[in-house]
Amino acid sequence: MSTTIGVIGSGQMGGGIAQVAAVSGSSVIVYDAFPGAIEKCKGVHKKSLGKFVEKGKMTQADADAALARVRYVSTLEELKGSNWVIEAIVEDAKVKKDLFAKLAAMFPADDVVLATNTSSISITEIATAAGTSAHRVVGMHFFNPVPLMQLVEVIPGLQTSKDVVERTVALATKMGKTPLKANDRAGFISNRVLMPMINEAFYAWMEGVAEPEAIDGIMKLGCNFPMGPLRLADFIGLDTCVHIMNVLAEGLNNDRYRACPLLKQLVTAGRLGDKSGRGVFEYPAK
Ligand code: NAI
Repeated sequence: MSTTIGVIGSGQMGGGIAQVAAVSGSSVIVYDAFPGAIEKCKGVHKKSLGKFVEKGKMTQADADAALARVRYVSTLEELKGSNWVIEAIVEDAKVKKDLFAKLAAMFPADDVVLATNTSSISITEIATAAGTSAHRVVGMHFFNPVPLMQLVEVIPGLQTSKDVVERTVALATKMGKTPLKANDRAGFISNRVLMPMINEAFYAWMEGVAEPEAIDGIMKLGCNFPMGPLRLADFIGLDTCVHIMNVLAEGLNNDRYRACPLLKQLVTAGRLGDKSGRGVFEYPAK
């Protein structure tokens, strides 16, 4: 049976997931609750695929065929016919749980996988909201920007069936990604290891160990990081970094994961990183 992937949320992540799925040959139905977002997503797809063609990484015919496989819709009901769903809406546990309760009812067939791209919320908690469908809920954690980043972290919840995990690994591979498994603990692997490192960079800055440029320069030149931890924090969003540290502190029950006071203070001042034009560094063009 051919795969029709229903993507919910057409923002940075959902849009990217839809694009990669279409390029890999799947039919895609992408839905967003906000009509403006769907229009924007269409434009982003055209532009992004155009860049691949320009760089000689894809033919115009393949780009056109990928675009023709995507249907953009503005109601949840229009996702019917999908045999795989990937959710990439706002990172809010209540909103996601309400959605998964609806999805379980809307897709009663036992072979429809209900995947979430959450970066921090417990898969077990989201799966519980799907009731008797909990075994077909799985974490499918893509990275930003999706068309370029290689990894998909595959996270089974406590209830997820082995078959669903195997099928998720297979789909991620078909999408041209490298799937790696992590268990359902706060932050999974990526954020559990990355975020405390970023947080520590803020502590080092706060304590006057070095200035931001030097902290980032040392980590780039000395550890071969493509981007320093403070620059990366600006890219992710300082508010998101605080949110993830809070999830780690609570989920792992340990104060050592508390967000650095300086990081929290920058968020209070509205310095959120690239998206607000200033975080640790300044981005006047944004
Ligand atoms: P975004 O804000 O760019 O996109 C979210 C989209 O979902 C928006 O277009 C919004 O209109 C739509 N939306 C919100 N509530 C909805 C609902 N109830 N029904 C339908 N559509 C709804 O956010 P982004 O960055 O794409 O994040 C989406 C998810 O992916 C979040 O769970 C986030 O934690 C996760 N994630 C984000 C990464 C990142 O670097 N931005 C990386 C990996 C995961």
